Amino acid sequence: VHYQHQFHAGNFADVFKHVVLLAVIDALNRKPGPWCYVETHAGTGEYDLHGDAARRTGEAASGVGRLWAQPAATPLLQRYLELLHQHNPDGVLRHYPGSPRWVAACARDDDRLVLCERVPQIAAELKQNFRGDRRVAVHQRDGYEAAGLLPPREKRGLMLIDPPFERPDEFRAVGELLRQATARFAHGVYAVWYPLKNRHAAERLPRAAAALGREGVDLQFDTGAPAQGQMHACGMLLLNPPFGLVEALTPSLEVLREVLTQGPRASWVARPF
Ligand SMILES: C[S@@+](CC[C@H](N)C(=O)[O-])C[C@H]1O[C@@H](n2cnc3c(N)ncnc32)[C@H](O)[C@@H]1O
Repeated sequence: VHYQHQFHAGNFADVFKHVVLLAVIDALNRKPGPWCYVETHAGTGEYDLHGDAARRTGEAASGVGRLWAQPAATPLLQRYLELLHQHNPDGVLRHYPGSPRWVAACARDDDRLVLCERVPQIAAELKQNFRGDRRVAVHQRDGYEAAGLLPPREKRGLMLIDPPFERPDEFRAVGELLRQATARFAHGVYAVWYPLKNRHAAERLPRAAAALGREGVDLQFDTGAPAQGQMHACGMLLLNPPFGLVEALTPSLEVLREVLTQGPRASWVARPF
């Protein structure tokens, strides 16, 4: 049985990841030149929070469900909620957009999305969801081969790497992909989402990224839930982050810490390297 994101869609980690993603895309949109977005592990792009899988875990209730219930406290979170409302026009939170949807919603006519997904049914669903959008190309392939798609002809853009982290060697594979990708497209922006379950494994990623000699920042978010099997913390590592990104994100991450809290130790941190 392969990893299925519909069990986790809209959980705290998805909210954190997609808010950071929106901030990066906003920064890319500040310049008129077109960009290319490459995603290595794209998923289906749309998730049903009323489906069996999402209902079984209930993870969205303590993630996007909490934000949905509140007035937006920052301009970035307001945009996040506006886009969410566009997907749920009747005012009931049911459809949660995956990363390709968030990015497509912000993409301009000349921007491009190149989406890799290895699992055939998931790739087929993703294709179906973006049928008719000429900005989007879906590749059913191993996302760890995506360095071969670089550099994009636009010469600017973002690669999101968001693997399931089920393989024991996934952190190593991400490090190797970053090495290959930055060798071909040194000035691209790179974002890697990762779980903070095994601190030792997770610490290797920023170290490997720092060794590439590019500027970066490691963002970590913790709901403060007592550690009992379930993931309660995750990170988003950025290489070549847009100028001023952490400052732009700070008020929103502060709000997320308050809204998504599961305990007194809820926190977030940004570590530049
Ligand atoms: C965490 S989910 C992606 C969620 C998505 N980025 C989002 O935020 O909406 C990871 C996806 O990677 C896919 N996958 C697993 N191994 C892969 C590989 N080697 N290459 C490409 N996709 C893979 C899984 O089928 C799953 O859909």
